[in-house]
Amino acid sequence: MSTQETESTASLYRDYARRWFPGHSELYVQWAMGLATSPELLALVSALPEHKRQPNLVFAAARFHGCPDESFRVLEAYLAAHWAGIRTIVMTHATQTNEAARCATLLPALGLVAAQEQRPLALIEVGPSAGLCLLPDLYSYSYDGAAPLGDGSPLLRCATTGNPPLPHHLPEIAWLAGVDLNPLDGTDPDTVAWLRALVWPGQEDRLERLDAALGTLAALKSGALQASAGAPLLLTGDLNERIADLVDAAPKHAVPVVMHSAVLAYLDEAQRARFADTVAALGCRWISNEAFFMDAANHAQEGPDANYFTLALDRVPLARTGPHGAELHWL
Ligand SMILES: C[S@@+](CC[C@H](N)C(=O)[O-])C[C@H]1O[C@@H](n2cnc3c(N)ncnc32)[C@H](O)[C@@H]1O
Repeated sequence: MSTQETESTASLYRDYARRWFPGHSELYVQWAMGLATSPELLALVSALPEHKRQPNLVFAAARFHGCPDESFRVLEAYLAAHWAGIRTIVMTHATQTNEAARCATLLPALGLVAAQEQRPLALIEVGPSAGLCLLPDLYSYSYDGAAPLGDGSPLLRCATTGNPPLPHHLPEIAWLAGVDLNPLDGTDPDTVAWLRALVWPGQEDRLERLDAALGTLAALKSGALQASAGAPLLLTGDLNERIADLVDAAPKHAVPVVMHSAVLAYLDEAQRARFADTVAALGCRWISNEAFFMDAANHAQEGPDANYFTLALDRVPLARTGPHGAELHWL
């Protein structure tokens, strides 16, 4: 293991400890800072392939394996004692966090499309993970503390500015589909445990929402909960390879809406441009909720603040959104 490689891993962990974990998970701040100063752990992590070294993946794997949410010293001993098993989890799993609360920021865009088209929607999500963002009509919403819209679970709370066009009713959804490199079955106990391990320690509200949304998905799949669109059809594959077929398969009485959140960062520039070209040529509506949006020339444009996503409809930015759905700042 070269010193340069362990130093680069240490720098990655320090970066997460300073930029990404503070304010969200104090335990992960401690763990990341501790790991950055441990030569033994840096050597273990640096021996992973580069795309598998990020702290959120390594820490989720440790917790999924059984490491308790305790001090760095506990993590240090646990990683050293169980590295072979944790390494296998890292190598066979990916960060596929599925945040149902993003539906609160997607809903106004869905409402605009429904109002403009006056037809039911066929929702086609690329990168849906377990498909929890495909159930916007089965949750309920409270914007700025107002009385809830809908009566489903979880209740998604969202603070707004800029007077967004909040819908007065939930959109009618006729069909649900998605394509993911690795679609997750949100009713499989191991998968549920992995999705739970991906929620950072200390984010109890996210864990509660995840459990509630998984409960709604399970009820839908078992038939205990009836919805006109039924359970989402989740295909395995690359979004660029399968999106045209999915749009084509949507029922003709519905308006196809391609949507995605927290996915484009996984693609390189050429893949993003290809995706944007394909969606534009398909003639469907397109809702994007990402760290950047694709402009008219299909170039990725970053928003002014890296801590926010941009919600865009057909390439037009509508709002800056909290990455986990808690904030909606209409432009
Ligand atoms: C961070 S998760 C986001 C899940 C969901 N969209 C949400 O907002 O909660 C990103 C998902 O994108 C999927 N993904 C990444 N690259 C992809 C590709 N080229 N084609 C299809 N899915 C992809 C990953 O497998 C993962 O499930």
